[in-house]
Amino acid sequence: MKTIEWIGDSTGYLRLLDQTALPVETKFLDCNTAKDLFDAIRRLSVRGAPAIGVSAAYGVLLGLRDIKQDDRKLFDTTFFEVSDYLAESRPTAVNLFWALDRLKKLVQNESALSALQMRDRLLEEARAIDAEDREMCAAIGRFGAELIPQNAGVLTHCNTGALATAGDGTALSVIFAAHQQGKNIHVYADETRPLLQGARLTAWELMQRNIPSTLICDSMAGWVMKQRNVQVVITGSDRIASNGDAANKIGTYALSVLAKAHGIPFYVAAPSSTFDFKIASGEEIPIEQRDSKEITIGFGKQTAPDGVNTYNPAFDIAPAENITALITERGIIQPVTKENIAALLQN
Ligand code: MRU
Repeated sequence: MKTIEWIGDSTGYLRLLDQTALPVETKFLDCNTAKDLFDAIRRLSVRGAPAIGVSAAYGVLLGLRDIKQDDRKLFDTTFFEVSDYLAESRPTAVNLFWALDRLKKLVQNESALSALQMRDRLLEEARAIDAEDREMCAAIGRFGAELIPQNAGVLTHCNTGALATAGDGTALSVIFAAHQQGKNIHVYADETRPLLQGARLTAWELMQRNIPSTLICDSMAGWVMKQRNVQVVITGSDRIASNGDAANKIGTYALSVLAKAHGIPFYVAAPSSTFDFKIASGEEIPIEQRDSKEITIGFGKQTAPDGVNTYNPAFDIAPAENITALITERGIIQPVTKENIAALLQN
């Protein structure tokens, strides 16, 4: 089952596995316009940093479908409008901007192509971004599995698997690879309030693959660690600053503190497309604020009084000093320092 699939030629459409319906229903959502995709990203029908980047790369083509004339100037204007529009869909995952910037550079460099040739070239590049993401996931899995001991309890947060990427995932790819290698592991999946990506999506992915797992509420993580049921914590990330501070789903900061307090290694798995070398530290990472209804009327049932004040940041930042190692497709970065990150990823 594919999370993201472009159907047809460069005038085709984007088919997404609608993650808002899981785990109860498996249904697909066809995006025919850039607005369809914008809305799908906003409401988390497609989500997870790499998946947002890959879908936006294809999504640009949706805004160029109606271009009939071979007018390159009009094509470029429309292209930049569509990519600026998609860039507004969500602010934190840098993979979105990374993918759009890659296409922008291509459009600027390939000025000799006609409009229709350029559109085909964009599809080729979107497919390359998709394929590279799959390869990066596999490499992250291979490197990361080395860090998972035999007979380990592994705690994870949010959803970082096949649903969050074009491949097998980031943190979950490590878990899948360790399991495939025959390591006896038991996964504790945080339910991940308020949108329950852990309960709805991670628990589902783990069960599909027959990996022993237990779903817990986020607030139980510290106690499960205290009971010595967790030997490793591993999460993904939406944006990693030059110094290694890593933004991820709200609750990740608390997990990094808890892991440190219990002497448990805390790993962050992410492809190089998640690193933002334009920013020095996590302080510069924009944190998405979401609708208060996600807290007060989650999934249709009112659970708080009318008019209650809420605070609903979708992400927080695990500081580099709490991260034992970063797992990337190029290898493992340990200790997590600006210099070590640059040495592995910036040459
Ligand atoms: O709001 P979401 O569901 O898009 O948040 C996703 C996460 O926080 C993931 O952990 C992150 O994108 C890394 S996924 C490979």
